[in-house]
Formats: sequence, C-alpha cells, structure tokens
Amino acid sequence: MGGVSCGHNAQVVKRPPRHTPARTAPAVIADDMARRFAARFGGPARVYRAPGRVNLIGEHTDYNDGFVMPMAIDASTWVAIALRDDRRLVVHSETVGETFEAVLDGTTLSPRRHWSDYVVGVAVELIDDGAELPGANMLVWSEVPRGAGLSSSAALEVSVGFALLDSVGRPIDRVALARLCQRAENVFVGARVGIMDQFIACHGVADAAVWLDCRSLDFRTLHLPTDVRVIICNTMVKHAIAAGEYNTRRAECEAAAAAIARSTPGVHALRDVTPDDLDRVGPLLSPVLFRRARHVVTENRRVLQAAEALDRLDVVGFGALMSNSHASLRDDFAVSCRELDVMVEIASALPGVYGARMTGGGFGGCTVNLVATTAIDTFLSTIAERYAKATGIQPDLYISTAADAVQRVVPVA
Ligand code: GLA
Repeated sequence: MGGVSCGHNAQVVKRPPRHTPARTAPAVIADDMARRFAARFGGPARVYRAPGRVNLIGEHTDYNDGFVMPMAIDASTWVAIALRDDRRLVVHSETVGETFEAVLDGTTLSPRRHWSDYVVGVAVELIDDGAELPGANMLVWSEVPRGAGLSSSAALEVSVGFALLDSVGRPIDRVALARLCQRAENVFVGARVGIMDQFIACHGVADAAVWLDCRSLDFRTLHLPTDVRVIICNTMVKHAIAAGEYNTRRAECEAAAAAIARSTPGVHALRDVTPDDLDRVGPLLSPVLFRRARHVVTENRRVLQAAEALDRLDVVGFGALMSNSHASLRDDFAVSCRELDVMVEIASALPGVYGARMTGGGFGGCTVNLVATTAIDTFLSTIAERYAKATGIQPDLYISTAADAVQRVVPVA
C-alpha cells in the first residue's frame, strides 16, 4: 500500500538493520485505508484491524486440547468496509492487487483455493450462525507477511468477521468469533487448525503474552521482563508440504490419543496423557505415534513451566524451555526444516539470547527469539549475515512488541 509503507508498524528491519523504522500510528493507517476505500468504492468506510501473532511456546498443542502462549504482534491485517444494499460481497486486496466478488445467497459459495476463501468462509459461517448479512464493499491490506507462520490468515478472518458483525450492529462475543473463524478455516478452507491463532487475534493484550488453555479457553496475561525483547526471524522459506503435513500431524495425534485411551481411562485427547502414562503405554504405540505423543505431552508441561518461569521473571529458565521445545519439534514432531534449524542454531550461539525456537506450524516460516535489550544490535547484525552465509537467503527480522486484539480504528482526519 502506497501511503503507508508495508511493515513499518511491525518495525520490519531491513538488512543491514541499522535503523528500525518509526512505527506508523494506527489512526494514520486507518486514515490511509479510508482514503483508498473512498477512491475505489466511493463513500465513507469504517476501518478495523486484527493482529498477527507469534507463539512463544506451546506448538502443535492447541488441537490436542493443550496449552499455548502466543502474543499478538504489532503487525495487523486491515479492513475498510461499507455495507451494500444488495447481497454482493466485493473485496479488493491491496496486498495482492486483486478484486473478487461473491453473492451471499448461500448456495453458490464454494472454496476456490484462493485467499478469498478466508473472507467468504467467514461470511458463510456468520450466515450459518444466523447473522442477517447484506452485501459489503471491503478493502483489505495486511502488514503481516504471508506464508511466514505469523498467522496472516487468522488476522484476515478475524478482521473480516469483526468488521461484518460490527457493521450490522450485532453484539460481538470474542470467544464465539474466534471459534467461528476457526470453523471457517476448518470447514471452508480445509485446514484443520486449532484455536490458537484466531483466539489471540480476538484476545491479544498490548505488552503481554497470553497463556491459554485450549480446552476450557481460560486464559491469563503474562508480562515479559522489560530488559528482554521478542525478535522474530523470517527464514523466507515455506516448504510446500506444510499444509498436508499439518493435517497428517493432527491425525497422528488423534490416533495416538485413541490408542492410549483404550488402556487409560479419562483420556480424551493427548492433553490428558501424563508422562507416566506414556512410559506405560509407549511400547504399544508405533515409534512414530510415540514420538508425536511425546512431543505433545512434554510441550504441554513446558508451557506450564514457562508460565511459572515468567511469573518469577526467570528468563533464563524460560529460554531453556524454548530451546527444548525446538528440539522436540525437530526430533519428535518432525515439523522443522534445515532453514529453521540453522536460524535457531545461529541465534542460540549469540550473546544475550535466552532462547530460540521455531514458531507456528513449521516447515519454514519464522523463529522466535528472546533477546536481552543490550544484545539487540549485535543480534540483528550477526544473525542476518550468518544465516545468509549458511543458506544463501537474506532473512527479514522483526522486533515486535505485543499488540492489542482486533478493534475498530478511527482515522486521524
Ligand atoms: C498453525 C495453526 C495453529 C497451531 C500452530 C502450531 O499456526 O493455525 O492452530 O496448531 O500451527 O502450534
């Protein structure tokens, strides 16, 4: 998007990262969105944003009813919207430079394996949920890098869902909205994702990470000490197997839980399996299912320990848990890849780095690093250079603060 430079809100650091660009105020972006909307569609619009996320720890645990600790990042997907009198949905993406149209008559809507599926899927779920949706004109634009494992899709779903509900004047229940957007992705898009990404887009809190129990949806905020920062390193690769392998991992977890449940009362998901259960029933599982289960069981424990570590401001302990999480995702869950491992290895050897791990679904995307504020400059300059030397790829680096959840943003002007 022209008037607002992509990524400034997320403090995208270009190589060499000598200067972190100034953050663009949300009200300024909203103003730009409203102007662009007026130029394309005519008339005023309301503007909304929903954040992407980085997960500090608790990977591939959400769909096992387990625990996660994401934080909303200060890069958002933006939607400018005005309702129409007919039932046409006209959506223009400034990010990809495409427009599409759909008619909300409930019969002709089917997935196209296209970014628009995230928008139409949400509209379909809202209609199924009883919302009387008229048509709408929408302009969307995202600061969240696509395919980087920072949850650009959930940010799009949640911003569109929130914008439509608010525009038609329906009360918004944030838990229900998160579930609805997850359903849109499970059913319409066909990715069997858990609730983490949609939940944090609906419940993120500025300056805090969120601990979430994905079964009860109980959550609490956790503050990082002020002398550390979260730095996200984008490997710039996304291996094509990611989507298929994600659904395979989920099926493997369900198969492991079902096998364990046969001899262990009270097991409904891997969340219910203790390390002792695993020792006992491990020999009954195939080696692959055993390793998948072991990742989930140990990762859930790590999330609980990580929350305790943050409560006592123990960043060293927290960082060690992040490193163990990465090893488990690499060795037991097999969702890492060479580029992620290289990035984590380089980061882990740098001074002032408490912990480093892959974040998100895996097979590429980003790593998350907990770095002492005093070590940030060295970190930024060294990691880009060493990663490029090892892989031939220039990474993007983002220093991110924790951001608020989805909201309407009133333009400055
Ligand atoms: C993706 C999914 C989430 C979660 C993570 C892995 O981001 O959308 O639901 O399963 O992968 O932790």
